[in-house]
Amino acid sequence: MAKTDIQLKIPSADFYIEPVRAFIGNLAQSLGFPRKRVADIQLVLDEVCSNAVHHGSANDAVGIKLRIAVDAHTLEILVRDTGSGNARQKNWLTRERLLEIETNRSPSSERGHGIFIAKSLADTHEMQPNEAGGTDVRVVFHLLKPNTVEV
Ligand SMILES: Nc1ncnc2c1ncn2[C@@H]1O[C@H](COP(=O)(O)OP(=O)(O)OP(=O)(O)O)[C@@H](O)[C@H]1O
Ligand SMILES: [Mg+2]
Repeated sequence: MAKTDIQLKIPSADFYIEPVRAFIGNLAQSLGFPRKRVADIQLVLDEVCSNAVHHGSANDAVGIKLRIAVDAHTLEILVRDTGSGNARQKNWLTRERLLEIETNRSPSSERGHGIFIAKSLADTHEMQPNEAGGTDVRVVFHLLKPNTVEV
């Protein structure tokens, strides 16, 4: 299967995350990911898109972009936002801030689990600032077909 690129842009609003979640779920299932992994992929997509909408968008209209690359063994999702425009959020992606987020994460807290979840469940999880002043989050999931599993 040749590598295929799918590009989507949705408004920066929670309302549009659910349809994308359903689409990714169907796509992952069609590619052959096991049911449990499909749920993981959907959860990660949800968390990354929620962050782009809630922390990385100045308003609904700016939108977030998704680039989904698929081949026979891999599902790769890039979520790109343009930044909140809030001075405090600018250049948020520092080692210190990430360490602070990790240190402050508490099981009893309702918030602050999104990055941890995405990092834990994706095979690859990368975050970097982009030229638009926002954040690019790239997550990759590998499809392990039974006959390719090495023991
Ligand atoms: N795309 C982003 N743009 C700007 N800041 C971000 C972005 N993603 C995450 N952050 C920052 O990282 C913090 C931690 O994100 P995380 O998803 O772990 O928790 P949360 O969004 O605060 O809560 P939760 O996801 O559990 O509802 C956020 O509060 C925000 O300050
Ligand atoms: Mg979050």
